[in-house]
Amino acid sequence: MIQALRGMKDIMSPDNSRFVHIIETASRIAKRYGYEYIETPLLEETTLFKRSVGESSDIVGKEMYQFIDKGGHDVCLRPEGTAGVVRAFIQNKLDKRGGTYRFFYHGPMFRYERPQKGRLREFHQFGCESFGEESVYEDFTMILMIKDIFDALGIGYTIKINSLGCPECMPGYRERLVTHLHDIEDGLCEDCQRRISTNPIRVLDCKVESCRTQLQKAPLIVDNLCETCDAEFGRLISLLKSHDIPYELDPKLVRGLDYYTRTAFEFVSSEIGAQSAIAGGGRYNRLVEFLDGKPTPAVGFALGIERIMELAKMPKSEREGLYLGVMEPDAIETVLKIAHKKRQSEKVYTEYRKKSLKAHLKAADRMQARLCAIIGEDELKTGEIWVKDLESKEERRIAVNEFV
Ligand code: HAM
Repeated sequence: MIQALRGMKDIMSPDNSRFVHIIETASRIAKRYGYEYIETPLLEETTLFKRSVGESSDIVGKEMYQFIDKGGHDVCLRPEGTAGVVRAFIQNKLDKRGGTYRFFYHGPMFRYERPQKGRLREFHQFGCESFGEESVYEDFTMILMIKDIFDALGIGYTIKINSLGCPECMPGYRERLVTHLHDIEDGLCEDCQRRISTNPIRVLDCKVESCRTQLQKAPLIVDNLCETCDAEFGRLISLLKSHDIPYELDPKLVRGLDYYTRTAFEFVSSEIGAQSAIAGGGRYNRLVEFLDGKPTPAVGFALGIERIMELAKMPKSEREGLYLGVMEPDAIETVLKIAHKKRQSEKVYTEYRKKSLKAHLKAADRMQARLCAIIGEDELKTGEIWVKDLESKEERRIAVNEFV
């Protein structure tokens, strides 16, 4: 039997309603914050991700679904959504126009990671990207929006926040960090030893216990920020404080994508095991320029839909729509007519097979229909339909003409 690939899942009943509820809730809130929907291709040139997410990142280095297409182009399935949105922003010349642009998206992302609980190879993100606004008010507003989304879904979280500096302060910091890392090199894991030359900042958030111990005395980015970055980060923190938004400063939070500058944040949940990040994002003021656009400040985030599916509280589901069935095959024509008329204004389930009344009622109940309407032999003769309200349990027989 052909099975879905490892780390890839079907989303179907009963989880599908959670999946849709999360997307609808997040989309509704993003629209309220002035974001508009954007859809970008699943497949992009591999270079796009190499230049944005970064060649030294695990995502690009190890996890891409990359192949040569029939035209000989090096392409890959998107491992994340930001790069494609930035490409679309530049390709559509919005960078040249100036102003602020805010986009939201949702869809599948692909990373060839080792599958485990909370870690899939095909997973779905809901994300937002905001272009053109330099001030930290935008970072703050984005955090507020994510908070609104999780609050609306009834999900608890902790906000972790850090600053990753800018091209002015990072090179000096990187040098200091590399010197320190060479001092403690022997005690670091193999990955971290390699990262000293490829991506030293990533060493800071290594999860290996021995590395964590070794890193206790490592210089921290927040202690090495330039004046502007320090002031901006201070402003963001005081905004969070004055709006009573609890946060944790995490000076070792660096994120797994290389494009961040200044603000970096993650929302984590203590209820879902090791893969605890339910959303992540930050500012990426250099990326538009890196991808050959006009320098444009930007900030964004994405949340992992599968990771929050089991956490989201669903609204009480209410019975809805009409179930139409027959106990007499000759009644099908009438049922088709009723169904078409009723579908102009409500949800209708049709069952064409002859069944007992009991079986019809059971099916209507399983579909959470509000009304169960059946035409049997008697009703066919009298031009009537038998209707039961599954909420109030009221039953009646009425003329078909009156019912539609
Ligand atoms: P990210 O932290 O790589 O950021 O992913 C965002 C979220 O996607 C994570 O917090 C997690 O919930 C979910 N996620 C990531 N990998 C997996 C996986 N293998 N299985 C299930 N869920 C996963 C980004 O992708 C950035 N593009 C976010 C961003 C947007 N930054 C700026 N704008």
